[in-house]
Amino acid sequence: MDVYEAVTSRRAVRAFTDRPVPREVLERVLSAAAWSPSASNLQPWRAYVLTGEPLAELKKRAGERLAAGDPWDEREYETYPPVLKSPYREHRFAFGQEHYGALGIARDDLEARQRAASANWDCYGAPAALFCYIDRDLGLPQWSDLGMYLQTVMLLLRAEGLHSCPQMAWSMYRKTVAEVVSPPDELILFCGMSIGFEDPTASYIRTGRAPLDETVTFVEG
Ligand SMILES: Cc1cc2nc3c(=O)[nH]c(=O)nc-3n(C[C@H](O)[C@H](O)[C@H](O)COP(=O)(O)O)c2cc1C
Repeated sequence: MDVYEAVTSRRAVRAFTDRPVPREVLERVLSAAAWSPSASNLQPWRAYVLTGEPLAELKKRAGERLAAGDPWDEREYETYPPVLKSPYREHRFAFGQEHYGALGIARDDLEARQRAASANWDCYGAPAALFCYIDRDLGLPQWSDLGMYLQTVMLLLRAEGLHSCPQMAWSMYRKTVAEVVSPPDELILFCGMSIGFEDPTASYIRTGRAPLDETVTFVEG
């Protein structure tokens, strides 16, 4: 698989089979992803990889919280600005239409939307998950290094025939994640990532992208 194919075939997959992901594959991917760039080579990502019983325990605990109507953990970082301006607001709206539309859920059916969102905390059925943390003393450039690392992981997973879904949703249940992975206090959970083999029977709609001239400006001589 070349890089273009890895990039274009990666998408946020939200239905996985229970086929296990071998430990050696995860080690190969994460060893290669360690070559991701970071400013001054700080390598600020701290990843915890869960499979088997620990992941089952995490899903169980998160499911119990959800069923009990337990409120989400207070945020350690702002996931979106309180008011999204244009064109970001429209992109978010379009994503909601695409995502929930593919599931046959109407825009005003909040209960069905919440049910669909709750699959986040089952890792969409995935048998492996990665939780990516960063030291709370680090700043915005280091957070962007995490993005580079995570995308590298996701592309390498494609090269292994695997799919993934990055999930900020896990930051809402960060204390439950911490109960299972016991991270040191100085770390903040940025996001989780479900990892596994895609369920080929699940339907989905490919998300769109803005036209190139919305995000790229060529300044030519
Ligand atoms: C940092 C980050 C956090 C995300 N959080 C979630 C999440 O909590 N749950 C989810 O289902 N998808 C999540 N996504 C997936 C995005 O919705 C998805 O990447 C976007 O809609 C583009 O679609 P595509 O990845 O399928 O191309 C997240 C993606 C990123 C990069």
